[in-house]
Amino acid sequence: MDVKKRIEALEQELREALEKVNNQTELQDVKSQFIGKKAEISTMMKHMKDLPNEEKPAFGQAVNKGKQKFHALVEEKREALKAEALKEKLEKEKIDVTLDAPDFSTGSTHIMNQIVEEIEDLFIGMGYAIKEGPEIETDEMNFEKLNLPKDHPARDMQDTFYITEDTLLRTHTSPVQVRTMLEYGGKKPVKIICPGKVYRRDDDDATHSHQFMQIEGLVVDEKTTMSDLKGTLLTLSRAMFGEDREIRLRPSYFPFTEPSVEVDVTCAACKGKGCNICKQTGYIEILGAGMVNNKVLASAGYDPEVYQGFAFGLGIERIAMLKYGIEDIRHFYTNDLRFNKQFK
Ligand code: DAH
Repeated sequence: MDVKKRIEALEQELREALEKVNNQTELQDVKSQFIGKKAEISTMMKHMKDLPNEEKPAFGQAVNKGKQKFHALVEEKREALKAEALKEKLEKEKIDVTLDAPDFSTGSTHIMNQIVEEIEDLFIGMGYAIKEGPEIETDEMNFEKLNLPKDHPARDMQDTFYITEDTLLRTHTSPVQVRTMLEYGGKKPVKIICPGKVYRRDDDDATHSHQFMQIEGLVVDEKTTMSDLKGTLLTLSRAMFGEDREIRLRPSYFPFTEPSVEVDVTCAACKGKGCNICKQTGYIEILGAGMVNNKVLASAGYDPEVYQGFAFGLGIERIAMLKYGIEDIRHFYTNDLRFNKQFK
């Protein structure tokens, strides 16, 4: 039998076997089957001794060449398998950087604080300082020094949570006025706003909350007038509700101011024409204000013959409700994320 033909046939078999190989183990099996010690090509050399001398070199060369070829084919397959495995691994570990990352929620400033910060920014721009005071207050600061002596009928305006006979949860931010004037010692001019939480003994409903937020404003100087107050409140109203707003001042009563006013802003919905929201009046009440009562100036150490002041107090929830058309004050405190997220 022609050795070359036989080797060619074996090579063909090897190629077909390699074709079917899927991994290194299978490759190892094929390798030992075709070029291992017991493989046909390996045993062929034994037959050389039976050949006539002149045929021996050609026979030997053919077998060796065949063996080399088989080795090369196996190695080629080995490399191909390796390359394939690497490709598969890379494919599996691929990170698609163009893929959208899953959304995770981030927090945001609560609408109450947003409004406080907005008002603070406005007043800081006009030279005001920000002052804070304790939420647990003395009767003296919350009432007496604000011209609300014990048994004064105006105490009925603010139902109070008492802690002891003389301490209570502050019912408004006005005591911070007194504390600041006392701190300034009756000499320096005062120009402050005081944001903070206040408490009233109210039954919670859509428009009442036992806890809410106020911002107080106080200016005390030697030439402070009611028109300064009006200009300041117009600036505030326009910053909060829009540059096209007007305000009006109505006479009112607070023990700590004289004269006292209630301040209304033109209705956002009807621009002052009159509609259901403003009960056909064209205006919506937003805050209380007035010229600081002489008794309050005196009780906090300022000489009313030299100093005058104006003050105002507004509810943050009320501002937010009007600004954003929120119908229930409880939304601010029940922490429904669907509500909170609208103000991101
Ligand atoms: N303290 C008042 C309240 O809570 C609001 C207020 C009215 C504050 C008039 C003032 C003011 O400073 O001048 O109802």
